[in-house]
Amino acid sequence: MADEVIAVSSDWAKRAYVDDAKYKAMYEASTTDPAKFWEEHGKRIDWIKPYSPSAVRDVDYNGDVRIRWFHDGVLNVSANCIDRHLSHRGDQTAIIWEGDDPSKSKKISYRELHGEVCRMANALKELGVRKGDRVTIYLPMIPEAAYAMLACTRIGAIHSVVFGGFSPDSLANRLVDCDSNVVITADEGLRAGKHVPLKANCDEALKKAPGVKKVLVVKHTGGKVGWEAGRDVWWHEIAAKVPADCAPEPMGAEDPLFILYTSGSTGKPKGVLHTTGGYIVFASMTHQYVFDYHDGDVYWCTADVGWVTGHSYILYGPLANGATTLMFEGVPNYPDSSRFWQVIDKHQVNIFYTAPTAIRALMREGEAPVKKASRASLRLLGSVGEPINPEAWLWYHRVVGDSRCPIVDTWWQTETGGILITPLPGATALKPGSATRPFFGVQPVMVDAEGNELQGACTGNLCLVNSWPGQMRTVYGDHQRFIDTYFRTYPGKYFTGDGARRDEDGYYWITGRVDDVINVSGHRIGTAEVESALVANTKVAEAAVVGFPHDIKGQGIYAYVTLKAGEHSSEELRKELVAWVRKEIGPIATPDVIQWAPGLPKTRSGKIMRRILRKIAENDFSNLGDTSTLADPTVVDDLVKHRGK
Ligand code: PRX
Repeated sequence: MADEVIAVSSDWAKRAYVDDAKYKAMYEASTTDPAKFWEEHGKRIDWIKPYSPSAVRDVDYNGDVRIRWFHDGVLNVSANCIDRHLSHRGDQTAIIWEGDDPSKSKKISYRELHGEVCRMANALKELGVRKGDRVTIYLPMIPEAAYAMLACTRIGAIHSVVFGGFSPDSLANRLVDCDSNVVITADEGLRAGKHVPLKANCDEALKKAPGVKKVLVVKHTGGKVGWEAGRDVWWHEIAAKVPADCAPEPMGAEDPLFILYTSGSTGKPKGVLHTTGGYIVFASMTHQYVFDYHDGDVYWCTADVGWVTGHSYILYGPLANGATTLMFEGVPNYPDSSRFWQVIDKHQVNIFYTAPTAIRALMREGEAPVKKASRASLRLLGSVGEPINPEAWLWYHRVVGDSRCPIVDTWWQTETGGILITPLPGATALKPGSATRPFFGVQPVMVDAEGNELQGACTGNLCLVNSWPGQMRTVYGDHQRFIDTYFRTYPGKYFTGDGARRDEDGYYWITGRVDDVINVSGHRIGTAEVESALVANTKVAEAAVVGFPHDIKGQGIYAYVTLKAGEHSSEELRKELVAWVRKEIGPIATPDVIQWAPGLPKTRSGKIMRRILRKIAENDFSNLGDTSTLADPTVVDDLVKHRGK
């Protein structure tokens, strides 16, 4: 059956920045002469010292891998996100903050944002932070998270935002990895009325991260906190003392902007490093074109600033464009599952960008909670983080968008800095479940397992040739890992780790990770991380973790656990191990299933056969393949017989 196609409406084609003909012309220009294309589009940003035409693009995916954009230009990101708007939109709302508690919200104008960011920048300077220092941000979704990030960029410090749902151990590892000596946190976060003990977590983490000398603490809930005099500083106290003006630091285009840790298929999370010039050009350009952002629009991305989506599409892209961006502290189903739609009405949101997992969870609640709100302000919907199944896409389109709002299904990664494959609302006919076509300058190629490039309609692994300005530059402190992870599998190409299908119209359908990364509710979790958390428990001898299809989360976490001799499986121990992983990594890594495994299927050389474990977790026993090469083929029968629920 042919895929359903939803054509671009003539209204959209007329009002949008780009219609189909313009998309094709711009795309063509962006790939035939990328340096010329980006030389022109780099000008959307204010440069203290403009880049020279010869410095626009300097890229080599071979050898040591070198990626530089606009490299002799000088700029400041916070000045681009704030100062340049002050003369003509100082009083416009920059950030609408909507609290977890529906009675709490506030609006921060660009002028107010300037004052707060300057104060936070001065506070950081007082605490000893200098250009190039790493500052870790462990905050809930409150305006101070935006102030903190922008304050770092103002003084040239490199921020590393750690999602507030991560455990003290995860925070400690990230602090140590980038040798951060200042943390910005809050007393507590709030989620669906529950208090999250951020300061207490931070205190716990600092026992393992002795390099941290100062902790700047935002008073948010007023909850009780421990205090270490000399180290801990209240934000409101220091803010009252420092000036509300701070000159932006001139930064080289290739100076580091931020580190963001993300899970890979092996070992500990990697510090993805983004630099200044290319990132902000790409974040702002994609935000404008993909969401067709026009002055006066109210834009809402429901991500957390702890993830790249929050960096690029709550903060940097929108603010660089002088947008009004909504920042939401809460969750979709609190106080009830009408919350998103109520917030849309309350703040007259025009553009709404969320994740498939949220859509699936809300879809389960039926149409009534959606229909309780008018949603008349909505014009465009977006999706990100994982493949969206056509059923959820169609529901989002019909019920949430009343069949009048296009959906931009945006494919990208922490590493890519911004959206790479996506519809443009005035240009691209939509197919439910497809991320459609590449953004300007992006050249996807499909390869088979041997690395042969595939032509036309095909299924394979998704790679990218030809850099784009928002691409990550290195793994912080480990350039070799950067080369090995992304450029070794298919030499000369950036390998995304995703599988995809390309159809006869050249549309891309991302099918999901082909490496040992699980995508749980749009969050990336390395199987190796969960395995090492499990084996850190003294009762566990061995563990193997795989993903399996999950109705709401997209993928769930399935763990096979072999206990040490003398230990006995029980429901109690299962609960203990689940709690253990939550404590070691954080609630996002909660195993959905733990299956006791007397043995794991291994080759004679000791390699765990994950393919077989994946099949069993998927409840697909039909095609376990050849098990005769296993050291002990009988373990498979046992695992099949006792498959977990
Ligand atoms: O597998 C792809 C999936 O999420 C991965 C990137 O995860 P992360 O770095 O955490 O960034 C998430 C937000 C950009 C990708 O390798 N992914 C992301 N967006 C989509 C997607 N899969 C299918 N469709 C998407 N729109």
